Amino acid sequence: MEQSEAIRIDGITKKFGDFVAVDNIDLEVSSGEFFSLLGPSGCGKTTMLRMLAGFEVPTSGSIVLNGEPVENVPPHKRNVNMVFQSYALFDHLDVQDNIAFGLKRRKVAKEEIGRRVGDALELVDLSTRATARPNELSGGQRQRVALARALVNKPQVLLLDEPLGALDLKLRRQMQVELKAIQREVGITFVYVTHDQEEALSMSDRIAVMSAGRVIQCASPEEVYEHPSEEFVAGFIGISNLLQGKVESRGQVRVGDVCLPVPDLDDSYSVGDSVQIAVRPEKVAVDEIDKPAYKIVADMFTVQGEIESMVYLGVGNQLTLRLSNGGRLVALEQATYRVQSHDQWKIGQPVKVGWHPEHCMVLK
Ligand SMILES: Nc1ncnc2c1ncn2[C@@H]1O[C@H](COP(=O)(O)OP(=O)(O)OP(=O)(O)O)[C@@H](O)[C@H]1O
Ligand SMILES: [Mg+2]
Repeated sequence: MEQSEAIRIDGITKKFGDFVAVDNIDLEVSSGEFFSLLGPSGCGKTTMLRMLAGFEVPTSGSIVLNGEPVENVPPHKRNVNMVFQSYALFDHLDVQDNIAFGLKRRKVAKEEIGRRVGDALELVDLSTRATARPNELSGGQRQRVALARALVNKPQVLLLDEPLGALDLKLRRQMQVELKAIQREVGITFVYVTHDQEEALSMSDRIAVMSAGRVIQCASPEEVYEHPSEEFVAGFIGISNLLQGKVESRGQVRVGDVCLPVPDLDDSYSVGDSVQIAVRPEKVAVDEIDKPAYKIVADMFTVQGEIESMVYLGVGNQLTLRLSNGGRLVALEQATYRVQSHDQWKIGQPVKVGWHPEHCMVLK
C-alpha cells in the first residue's frame, strides 16, 4: 500500500495565557497509520487532538490534513472525527439512532443511512443490540457504539482521546485488541491518545512520547522501548535500572568500581564524559552462586551481588539486588515452564547477576 501523508504538523504551539500547553511540535502521520500520543497527565495530548479536530486554534504553526491546510476550516468541514473518553451518547436514542445521528443531520439518503449503520454495527459486533438504549449496555458496548458513530461518517482521520479510559483492566485489554482489528479492517488513520504505556506499545505503529508540551521521542514501539532517547522515555515506558557512569574508553563505562562494556556508546562521547545507562529489569539474569549457570550465558557481563528483596508477581518475581560494588539493580524474573524451579530465593542469598552488553542503553 502506498503510504501517503494524512497529517502534517509544523511548529505547532498552543498557549493559554502565558502557559505553553503545546510547545513547537512537528509531526507527520501516514495514511492508515495507528499513531499514538503517549504522556503523563497535563502534557498536552488532548490539546493536540483538539487542534487537529479544529476545536482549538493554534497560537502558531500549521496543520495540513490530507494535503489541505486547515487553519481556516471549521471542525465540521474537516474530514476528521473525534471519540471522547466519556462516551457522550444520547441516552434518549437507541443504538442505531445514536450511530445514524451525524448522517441524518447531513441529510444522507435514508437507504444509505440504513446500510451504513448496519455495516458499522457489524463492524463493532453490536448488530443484535441495534434497538437497545445506551443505559442497557455495558461500558465496553457503549464504547463500541461511540466508535461506530465516528466510523459511520467515514472520516479520513479518527482522533481518539483515551477512549478506553473508563473501562476496567480486563475489558480494556480486550477492547485494545478489537479496536486494533477494526482499525486494520477499515484502514482509517488513527491518532490515539493514552497515558497507558502498555496500551500504546501493543496497538501503535508509531508512538510520540510527550512531556510538558513537547515530543521527546517519536518512533516505533520497539524503538522507544529498546532505544529510549532520554531518561524520561526510559522511565515512562516500563521501569528501568539507571546507572550513572563515566566513559572509561571506547565502548567502556565506569560505574563505581566496575567497568561495563557498552557497545551502544557511539563516537560522540569522549573519555571522562558523564553518561547515563539504562538496563531493563527483564534483561537482567540472576543465578545462584556456586551452582552451574542456569540463566547467565557465556557472553554476558557478570557481577556478584545478593538478593536484597523480592516481590512475587505471579508471572514471575521482581528481585532487588545489591551488587558487590554497592549499587542496586532490579531484575524481573519470569516464571518458567520448568517443573523444578530453582527460584526459591532467600533474602541475603549471594548471587551472580548478568546481562548482555547490548542491553545497556545509553541515554541522552
Ligand atoms: N482551556 C484551557 N485553559 C487553560 N489551560 C488549559 C486549557 N486546556 C488545557 N489547559 C492546560 O494545558 C495543559 C495540557 O492540557 P491537556 O488537556 O492537553 O493535557 P492532557 O495531556 O490531555 O492530560 P490528561 O492526560 O490529564 O488528559 C494542562 O496543564 C491544562 O491545565
Ligand atoms: Mg487529556
